[in-house]
Amino acid sequence: MQTLTQSRFRYGNGIRLIDDSGVEYLDAVSGTFNLSLGYNHPHIVEKVQEQVGNLTHMSSSFTEPYVNDVLEKLTEIAPNGIDAGWMRDITGSTANECAVKIAQKYTQSSDIISLYLSHHGQSQFATGISGNAFRRKKFPNSAAANSVHVPAPYCYRCPFNSSGPNCGFQCIEAISDHIEYASSGSVACMIIEPILGNGGNIIPPEGYFERLRKLCDEYSIILIADEVQTGIGRTGYMYASELFNIQPDIITLAKGLGGIGIPVAAVLMQSRLDVLEKHEHSFTSGSNLLSLIAAKSTLEVVSEPGFLDEVKLKGEILRELLHELAPKYKCIGEARGVGLMWGLEIVDSQGAPDVVKANAIIERAFTDQHLILRGSRYGLGNVVKVRPSLTVTTDELVEITERLESVLQSVN
Ligand SMILES: Cc1ncc(COP(=O)(O)O)c(C=O)c1O
Repeated sequence: MQTLTQSRFRYGNGIRLIDDSGVEYLDAVSGTFNLSLGYNHPHIVEKVQEQVGNLTHMSSSFTEPYVNDVLEKLTEIAPNGIDAGWMRDITGSTANECAVKIAQKYTQSSDIISLYLSHHGQSQFATGISGNAFRRKKFPNSAAANSVHVPAPYCYRCPFNSSGPNCGFQCIEAISDHIEYASSGSVACMIIEPILGNGGNIIPPEGYFERLRKLCDEYSIILIADEVQTGIGRTGYMYASELFNIQPDIITLAKGLGGIGIPVAAVLMQSRLDVLEKHEHSFTSGSNLLSLIAAKSTLEVVSEPGFLDEVKLKGEILRELLHELAPKYKCIGEARGVGLMWGLEIVDSQGAPDVVKANAIIERAFTDQHLILRGSRYGLGNVVKVRPSLTVTTDELVEITERLESVLQSVN
């Protein structure tokens, strides 16, 4: 029996991975949530191959026209007057660092607020601003200076034991308290994931972002939406900021922007925030031509008329399938999500997070059903994620849930 780490995959086709012996696995999580268009979307493959033949790399002093092609597309429909951008990163981690640098330089303030359970990357700084101490424990430099963490709007396990539409938004009050009492008194920005992805597919309640925007305005804090997971159509909208009406000042993107897994990142901002000098944030492979061509061709596909409508439709089908499945299994406390970004909260008989069972589901899905799922290791660890590529077919959505159900029957 193949285990997750022993497998050697040779090919990818759509949402399928094919191993050495020709066995197909159904990837329900888009690789590392980055394969927005699956493993081998022909348009991206063609454009990247063509680019490899022509020119792979040149100094970022010369790549501006290519960068502008991508930024033009990204800013065309970006929310809240976002009309400028920066593309000298290939990872979400450094894109988030770039966003923080921008906010600090612009505001001349220091502190960064982020949410418990958030994940903003794995560089030391990005680890520092991410909301889980166990990830910093062995690395003393990872406790980022000026980083303040605040409770997440995790309604299923509300940190304030509130519930319902009249909960009083104590999670927002807590941010205000932290600014007043726990910060250095000089706050530059707040960085949030529209949906806390690795933290457990946590979706803030209606009204949260409206209050958050108000609070940021009150304190002149730059609001950064880390859309590394939620951007590029994942929720059925190009930006989740649009869906949730977040009104961010800066948006960071990576993962899905590369379509078939080509590394690329972008930082989008209102032009008042376009304050960095080129030497202040730049990497050798940032704005390399393969990344830029992958981003451009991915955007061509995602912005085709009807593409995002189709994602919304498939998102509704996935919602129905998972909402039908969840009540049948006691171990599923909640199935939550939007578009093609879903998570199953796995609980024990007392409703506590059941990490062992979540991991067993993921392991068995792979070995018994050839279904690839992932967990929420950076959160409480008990959420099983279902997030196929945007190109998934309706039949494949049914296939994913059928295989998942077989696993649930065997572990329940
Ligand atoms: C929301 C979010 N932000 C940032 C990152 C970091 O991106 P990268 O791994 O490309 O550095 C991730 C990666 O998982 C992420 O999920």
